[in-house]
Amino acid sequence: MTPLGYNGDLMVQMQVKLGPATLRNPVVLAAGTSGVMGEIEDALNLSTIGAITTKSITKEPRIGNEPVRMVTLQSGMMNAIGLANEGIDSFIENHAQSVPSLDTVVIGSVAGDTIEAYVAVASAMDSILGIDLVEINVSCPNTQDGLEFGGCPKSLTMLLNEIRPALSNSGMLVKLSAAPGDIRKHAQAAIDSGADALTLINTIPSLAIDIESRTPKLSRGIGGVSGTVIHPVAVRVVHEIYRDVAKDANIPIIGTGGVLRWEDAAEFILAGATAVGIGTASFVNPASAQNIAKKLTSWVKRQGCQSITELIGELKLP
Ligand SMILES: Cc1cc2nc3c(=O)[nH]c(=O)nc-3n(C[C@H](O)[C@H](O)[C@H](O)COP(=O)(O)O)c2cc1C
Repeated sequence: MTPLGYNGDLMVQMQVKLGPATLRNPVVLAAGTSGVMGEIEDALNLSTIGAITTKSITKEPRIGNEPVRMVTLQSGMMNAIGLANEGIDSFIENHAQSVPSLDTVVIGSVAGDTIEAYVAVASAMDSILGIDLVEINVSCPNTQDGLEFGGCPKSLTMLLNEIRPALSNSGMLVKLSAAPGDIRKHAQAAIDSGADALTLINTIPSLAIDIESRTPKLSRGIGGVSGTVIHPVAVRVVHEIYRDVAKDANIPIIGTGGVLRWEDAAEFILAGATAVGIGTASFVNPASAQNIAKKLTSWVKRQGCQSITELIGELKLP
């Protein structure tokens, strides 16, 4: 793996560390936005980005919510997919073998409805050769119980204390939502329970209405909004969690939410993120992540830095 940025000639260090994993650059494909795992390779050169995250996988297969499950908005999109996925047994059978051949770090995303189910899937992900990080999704707004564990620091602690010992080969990422109250308490609980990194944020609960039929545009009614419209919220959350919780604990953050342009990614880095998740942008252009990684390298150089890590949290407040 080259330690240089996308443009080798720039001599800028773009490597970042997330727990036990070293990413060649901070650009990460966010869970659920680029297929189950690696299918986006047809349109995106995986060797140009830092990591990909799998679709969130549950213990049993899930068909997800009724269509309509996605709508586009003026400045983003809304979805209520409902964690449709093939289940961990099928994931292991159909995808696990190809993990080592993907030329990037692979993050296995895990969801569940009980502690036992989370632990079973996390443990199975951990056993897959080439999965360096397991992301615990406790932030899905599109299922009945998606926020059950992420919505309360006490339940989150109970869950993570069971999952942590099941991860003997990989680091633990915890993906939190911006929605529940003071997210600082959730972030602190995750760190105290052994999180190696935090992913902030998931989609935000929202409602879009068809004014002619007077019905919700999504069949489920409420969905999760993503894209440009949530970016400033996500930057604020990353800034506050970095400043108040993660910096002193030396826990990296993957800032996720509305990164459509490289400038959005740079904002996250200045707010305190070590890496940056790309979701909705991949629906607009599947090659977005590699373009963002390339331009981020030029920005680091223009800032007069030798390493992107010099810019993490370097927001200058008035
Ligand atoms: C269609 C769709 C499916 C998603 N599925 C998942 C998922 O399975 N697990 C998860 O943790 N997040 C999921 N997300 C949330 C994204 O990973 C990301 O946190 C969110 O979309 C904000 O980033 P963005 O504005 O760049 O899209 C999904 C988002 C979208 C749009």
